[in-house]
Amino acid sequence: MCGIIGFTGGGNAIHKLLDGLEALEYRGYDSSGVAYFADGALKCVKTKGRLSSLRERFAETDDSAVLSGIGHTRWATHGEVSDRNSHPHGNSRVYGVHNGIVENYTELSAYLSRRGYSFESDTDTERAILLIDCLYQSLKDPVKAMMQASSMIKGSFALGVVFADIPNTVFAMRRDSPLLACPSDEGMFIASDISAVLRYTRRFAIIEEGELAVLTHNSIRFILPDGSAREKEYESVTWDTSAAERGGFPHFMLKEIFEEAEAVSRTISGRIREMHPSFEIPLFEMEIPKRIHIIACGTAMHAGLMGKYAIEKLARIPVNVEIASEFRYRDPILEKGDVVLIISQSGETADTLAALRLAKERSVHTLAIVNVVGSTIAREADSVLYTRAGPEIAVASTKAYSVQVALLYLIAIRLGEASGKLSPCKTEQLCRELENMPEYIEETLNIRERCKAVAERCSAHHSIFFIGRGQDHALCMEAALKLKEISYIHCEAYAAGEMKHGTISLIENGTPVFAFATEEALLDKTVNNIREVTSRGASVTLFVRAGLKLPQGIADEVIELPCVRELFMPLCAVLPAQLIAYYTALTLGCDVDKPRNLAKSVTVE
Ligand code: M6R
Repeated sequence: MCGIIGFTGGGNAIHKLLDGLEALEYRGYDSSGVAYFADGALKCVKTKGRLSSLRERFAETDDSAVLSGIGHTRWATHGEVSDRNSHPHGNSRVYGVHNGIVENYTELSAYLSRRGYSFESDTDTERAILLIDCLYQSLKDPVKAMMQASSMIKGSFALGVVFADIPNTVFAMRRDSPLLACPSDEGMFIASDISAVLRYTRRFAIIEEGELAVLTHNSIRFILPDGSAREKEYESVTWDTSAAERGGFPHFMLKEIFEEAEAVSRTISGRIREMHPSFEIPLFEMEIPKRIHIIACGTAMHAGLMGKYAIEKLARIPVNVEIASEFRYRDPILEKGDVVLIISQSGETADTLAALRLAKERSVHTLAIVNVVGSTIAREADSVLYTRAGPEIAVASTKAYSVQVALLYLIAIRLGEASGKLSPCKTEQLCRELENMPEYIEETLNIRERCKAVAERCSAHHSIFFIGRGQDHALCMEAALKLKEISYIHCEAYAAGEMKHGTISLIENGTPVFAFATEEALLDKTVNNIREVTSRGASVTLFVRAGLKLPQGIADEVIELPCVRELFMPLCAVLPAQLIAYYTALTLGCDVDKPRNLAKSVTVE
């Protein structure tokens, strides 16, 4: 989950590498560095801390004549966060940047030590790069050296490599970690993600596993293991730089919250219109599933919980929702007629990808809901439905959640219709209401000032609870994750009825409790649970669907959410959860878009 960039072309390479790294910082920001050709040699500059520290190192130098190099922004896996563990790694002959994990790091260390190498860092990456150097010394051919290194490295990698005696040429290869080759008028790039090079090009080709990409200032060659060349078509992204910029918002997270209505509309509208007479979701090219397993991590898993509610309610098909890192190691029971539905914003999450591969090994149909076009999960699943959220940059996922939930509603409606559980008339009604949801999402944003005030109050606390029943409980799980992730306040999501079985002992005078009540049938029960905590001193903020009748004085503050169909309420109710997390983090002076210890794309297990 580090970010990689490489460039060779018409000058100002350092500038391009640093700008690219800035766009990739969401992938990791423990340290950064570049290696480049200058004065007939390879130079390397790297430092721990944010990219601004690396920029400072170049502030005083005129590097406009540098034509090529590689860069890296790190999310530490092997070795502490320090200058010496920062990438690039290598020696005067070769430097490389790496994203992934080299699993046979110990064996490679021994192999290299026997050949006289010693190590300057604790990283697995240094071993991979020195292995390439070692093989290059004996084979005298960079392509053969990298191919052979690839066969000796166990684990995942995206690697960008430069050799001192092959100036202005960048070599790249990958396995299980993303890496693109991108041609532009100014020169050729490699990048973990197209957002790093959008200023120069929208064209890209995925470097396939087993291939080597060789970039010179005006060409990209793709070489296969047998040495033959492979011709490739380039693809283009449709969105432009503004989609990956803050556009006047102080943070990406706030911008992305404000984009939710539009993103949901993009994700569902065209598909709803196609729904009659034939809404072609790939899932339905086959028989109605007997059982659905929704597998994902983090926020995507929370979206999956909403999918379970909707699919079970509308189509009466049993749905199991599971965290990918658990699913993949527990020998799950997958039977003929089951479908594994994978959800991932990035399409690169290592555990989710492994779960997908496991399902495929067991010959179960896999359907992926993915945001990033062309990502590994999107390419490997039997069928894919893209959410159309545009790039999500903030580490805390917001709009990706909403579009995933919206698409799951659509799947639930379609399954309900296809299985005969929903009449055509009911299907039509649900589609119309879902299509109107972006309006209500917009309307919900009107409560942002109240969310801000609530956030300012709760930022002084060290322990916060979110309670709700049914799908409100699933929503609480997402709300708590968001708040923990960016404000570092400990909080818990609890099924409201479960508090009294132990956790209520943590409630003290003034403990903030956020309660969600959007389902009428569960309202009285949730109200009772609110009374249980208020009578023990909790300060309760209640988010309630407008129109539901509450007893007088039930909570310290009641905030109404738009009155929409209960099933679709999470699309509105998630906004205050996200806004409270955002404003709390802001009040506490946290780095909202780049919370500590995290990265956007989790490509390690
Ligand atoms: O890219 P994915 O959707 O597969 O990512 C899954 C999780 O890592 C992600 O949702 C994470 O929980 C977010 N940072 C939460 O805001």
